[in-house]
Amino acid sequence: MKERLQQLQEEALAALQQAADLKSLQDVRVQILGKKGALTEVMKGMRALSVEERPVVGSLVNTLKDRLETTFVVRQAELKKQTIATKLASEKIDVTLPGRRATAGSKHPITLVTEDVVDIFTRLGFSVEEGPEIEQDFYNFEALNIPKDHPARDMQDTFYISDDLVLRTHTSPVQVRSMLKKKPPVRVIAPGTVYRRDSDLTHSPMFHQIEGFLVDDKVTFGDLKGVLTHFLKEFFGEGLGVRFRPSFFPFTEPSAEVDIACVICGGKGCRVCSGTGWLEILGCGMIDPAVFESVDYDPATYSGFAFGMGLERIAMLRYGVNDLRLFFENDLRFLKQFNV
Ligand code: PHE
Repeated sequence: MKERLQQLQEEALAALQQAADLKSLQDVRVQILGKKGALTEVMKGMRALSVEERPVVGSLVNTLKDRLETTFVVRQAELKKQTIATKLASEKIDVTLPGRRATAGSKHPITLVTEDVVDIFTRLGFSVEEGPEIEQDFYNFEALNIPKDHPARDMQDTFYISDDLVLRTHTSPVQVRSMLKKKPPVRVIAPGTVYRRDSDLTHSPMFHQIEGFLVDDKVTFGDLKGVLTHFLKEFFGEGLGVRFRPSFFPFTEPSAEVDIACVICGGKGCRVCSGTGWLEILGCGMIDPAVFESVDYDPATYSGFAFGMGLERIAMLRYGVNDLRLFFENDLRFLKQFNV
């Protein structure tokens, strides 16, 4: 009997130690200590023992039972700890890993340049106006002193929607719309999209212009020169060379084109300025009396100047972009470079 108990102890202790998880540990316990377990079987055999032997064996059985119970509890605690540890290890989060960044967008270079130009003129008291991109012939041409069949219409290859509707070829129609709305003094800056049937390395059928004009009494060509020179130096930098060249526009008289010293070669002559040292940057002039008549301003009382420039062009010069198409392809590698 004692031997049987000794053997049972060894087997039971080994089985408890070897149980790899809580479930099998529980099974081992039932096999040994349960109602039909091995130890219970041994205890049943005690009836056959003599009166002297019974208490001796009984005490051995109790000791073994206690020992096994204790081992069970210890082993159970161990396994519970292990289970938690494995679970923690598998669910571990490395808080030092770099997170997933939210990718921030950036403003398009044409937007950046537009905002800068608008900003400079806003500080001079100009206010922003906008007009439709699908424009009536009257605003795009007629009221700007470009009657039907006038040769000046050839200057701008127009997209016609109908006899009377065009995609505006410039932002100058906003002059007409603003003057019909407001009485002088007016100071307006008008950025917008314009369209021309023109497409090659340096021309896109859709591009951006910004128009500006000022009307008051006693406005002179000197005011025009002063305001535009101030603007160009604010935008491109103080030391910039600027020159005014006579030109022609049907809606201004006299008219001029403005050149800046080439921002690439500084005036020495290079490929960008075709060796001239100068870059044409905008068109301008004193608003033609014929335009004032079509908006009911009295040309004897009022005078004013107007100017218009291409935004892609000044963006190319400011950022050193050598291909106009980059502005319209929306390649992220290009756009991201303007992230501020
Ligand atoms: N509208 C002219 C153009 O598109 C530019 C311009 C505007 C010239 C205002 C003079 C005055 O070329």
